[in-house]
Amino acid sequence: KIDEIKIVKLPKILDDRGNLSFLEEYKHVPFEIKRTYWIYDVPGGESRGGHSYRINEELIIALSGSFDVILTDGYEVKRVSLNRSYFGLYVPNGIWRHMENFSTNSLAFIAASTEFDEADYERDLDKFKNNGKYI
Ligand code: TYD
Repeated sequence: KIDEIKIVKLPKILDDRGNLSFLEEYKHVPFEIKRTYWIYDVPGGESRGGHSYRINEELIIALSGSFDVILTDGYEVKRVSLNRSYFGLYVPNGIWRHMENFSTNSLAFIAASTEFDEADYERDLDKFKNNGKYI
């Protein structure tokens, strides 16, 4: 699973009037997009997203500013810095992740493969490590 984590380079249409990027389901993300959400106004030093999803897959984009995403399958750890709006981080299900080092005014945009469902979360790191049978 951790090998399925990848940086997706999104289209970037350069223009003197300003640049434009976009993403389409199945083309730039390997799933149907059921939901988008965004995280903003993160106070300095705060971290977000300490959990995994059993089913939900995501693409995480730093639309503005920068932050780091730390990911693990319980064995290997990966750290990815996002700081460009035309790079997305694809995170498959069954991966524990959190985000930290949010810059001032940073904006994290997330495209998700499922509607919100609290039952899809694993928020207990020990449980995640011990029974990662869904990995
Ligand atoms: P949570 O996913 O725990 O935030 P983080 O990205 O830091 O892990 O979500 C925080 C709260 O927002 C939680 O009460 C669930 C709620 N929420 C929704 O209602 N819908 C959503 O799409 C998301 C992502 C969260």
